Amino acid sequence: MKGGDSKKDKEEQQQVMSEVHLGCPPGISGPHISRFIISLPAGIPEVESSRFHELFKEEEACTDQDISFDEDGDLVLPRRRRNSRRCFTMKIQHNITSSIPSVGLQVWRAELVLSDFVLHKMCTTTDFDGIVSLELGAGTGLAGMLLAHAAKTVFLTDHGDKILENCVKNVQLNSGVFNCQAAVHVRELDWVQPWPPKVGLDLVSQERYSWSLSELEEVQKASLLVAADVIYSDDLTDALFGILEGLMSQGSEKVLYLALEKRYNFSLEDLDVVANGYSHFRSYLREDDECEGLEHRSLPCFMGRRINVAEIPQYVGEYDRGKDAELWQIRYNKGQL
Ligand SMILES: C[S@@+](CC[C@H](N)C(=O)[O-])C[C@H]1O[C@@H](n2cnc3c(N)ncnc32)[C@H](O)[C@@H]1O
Repeated sequence: MKGGDSKKDKEEQQQVMSEVHLGCPPGISGPHISRFIISLPAGIPEVESSRFHELFKEEEACTDQDISFDEDGDLVLPRRRRNSRRCFTMKIQHNITSSIPSVGLQVWRAELVLSDFVLHKMCTTTDFDGIVSLELGAGTGLAGMLLAHAAKTVFLTDHGDKILENCVKNVQLNSGVFNCQAAVHVRELDWVQPWPPKVGLDLVSQERYSWSLSELEEVQKASLLVAADVIYSDDLTDALFGILEGLMSQGSEKVLYLALEKRYNFSLEDLDVVANGYSHFRSYLREDDECEGLEHRSLPCFMGRRINVAEIPQYVGEYDRGKDAELWQIRYNKGQL
């Protein structure tokens, strides 16, 4: 096979597009800023915490920048609705299409499902208040940035300068949403490299996304990991679970919430439509009740419990969850050997 035909070259040439970007202006190949409106769904009790009152403003405040003109060129002003919602806006810089190695420059549907879950937990519980958390394969970083409204420290992690730079830009665009004491760090965590990552000597130029010793110590204390749409290649799934084992077997007990899109394709081998990537992911997990027996408890394992996505209200506006989005709660059982 010629060098130009290699799998890597093909992945770099092929362009893919997330369903989330349907309706974005066509023909833009570079970065584009979208506004995601986050509103308090009907039926969610008025949020007690004053922090949330500040965040969820009357609807007009969320849409005041959406200036548009009618066909005569007159300014169209947003009208106040009778039942006005409480909402706020997140500005996300993303590409509308990308090559496969650069999919982290786009926003994927699972990230919006994860964001809904994070928002719901933050609005209805204090579970995420003051915690240390880390997002893996964060891409544009929406869910992790929302977490920074309650958490003490958030690490947004991914790999490669282009994706990490774009994530930094999003942190700058949305810093108003963060809890004023929150520290948000964009750091390189490449799953194919061994855990723990190397400690950077200084934080300039190419070392900008590297870890300090104290940050790695803080990650040990993390109680929450989140990830969205990181299950799409078996090799990457293997690498991801390797990193998760490193992260979750040390320090404080951690729980991972992982949102995914179950993708199907036609397999010539099976002569059927299959979700092989998903099956590979599931092969890493034991159901909670499977770990009841002592023989399983004695060996380290990942325990998975599927959360019913239909029970999570939609806070992020204007996206269709589809029928193949799933959310998993994953814990690591260190075993008793
Ligand atoms: C489909 S995108 C999802 C991005 C974002 N979570 C979302 O859902 O919008 C997959 C993410 O995994 C990241 N990723 C792929 N391989 C990786 C690796 N070896 N180490 C770290 N992150 C990786 C990509 O850069 C990308 O951000």
